[in-house]
Amino acid sequence: MPAVKGARRNHGLVPVNFRRKKARGFLALSKEGIRGVVEAFASAARRALDAGFQVLEIHSAHGYLIHEFYSPLSNQRTDEYGGSFENRTRLAREIVSAIRRQWPERLPLFIRISATDWKEGGWDLDQSVELVKQLAPLGVDLVDCSSAGLVPDQKIIAGPGFQVPFSERIRRDTGVMTATVGLIETKEQVAEILAKNRADLVLMAREFLRDPYWPLRAARELGYKISWPAQYLRAAPPDSPARKPLDVETLKAKGMN
Ligand SMILES: Cc1cc2nc3c(=O)[nH]c(=O)nc-3n(C[C@H](O)[C@H](O)[C@H](O)COP(=O)(O)O)c2cc1C
Repeated sequence: MPAVKGARRNHGLVPVNFRRKKARGFLALSKEGIRGVVEAFASAARRALDAGFQVLEIHSAHGYLIHEFYSPLSNQRTDEYGGSFENRTRLAREIVSAIRRQWPERLPLFIRISATDWKEGGWDLDQSVELVKQLAPLGVDLVDCSSAGLVPDQKIIAGPGFQVPFSERIRRDTGVMTATVGLIETKEQVAEILAKNRADLVLMAREFLRDPYWPLRAARELGYKISWPAQYLRAAPPDSPARKPLDVETLKAKGMN
């Protein structure tokens, strides 16, 4: 693809640079480029399988390429990848289908979406529900419901468990399993979310940075037996099993990868 004079050599879906608010500096992806992206996702899935991963999550949130395509705020294309909902979500469907041809049916496929752009006129929860209805029959098993990350003037209303309503609604309206994430820090929060069927899985990030052994501590406080690193067994509750490393060769020999 020829370089545009003065352009940063980034490829996006449309020639928009949000920071400069001017339609210059980026090259719109050609159809050939889009085909290449879809193939690259599929070959990455194949490599993940060969490396022994058991779960795959497609990143389609936080302003990454698939999100840029499905949001009307960033997608200003005029071809079959832009305009209508059907067109803006085409890339997501193509990527899921291509990955599923590489990633076996018996292994779970997750997708992280931004359930809303937190901006008027942008991507929202209703569209997320429709997208998930389309992706489920193509082989998505679980939707990881995050939000935002596309535009600088988003207005996020954050607080404890602030994204739980997204996973709850998507789960309820589509019948697809969901994960929730964002400002979930205590085992009581996790238990309530799961008990009230507001998500099938709770994901945590920053609390694990503050307290990397959070799962071990929570399990101990709840009297729930889980495996510990073998070298830490002397600190574990009595009869805790030792954690076993994943043995890729054994999995391969059993045909499980
Ligand atoms: C250091 C750090 C790095 C992160 N990197 C990513 C990332 O690469 N991709 C992503 O989707 N989210 C990333 N996140 C966001 C987390 O996945 C998660 O959605 C967010 O932190 C909210 O959950 P929490 O309140 O439990 O931290 C990152 C968060 C932190 C703190």
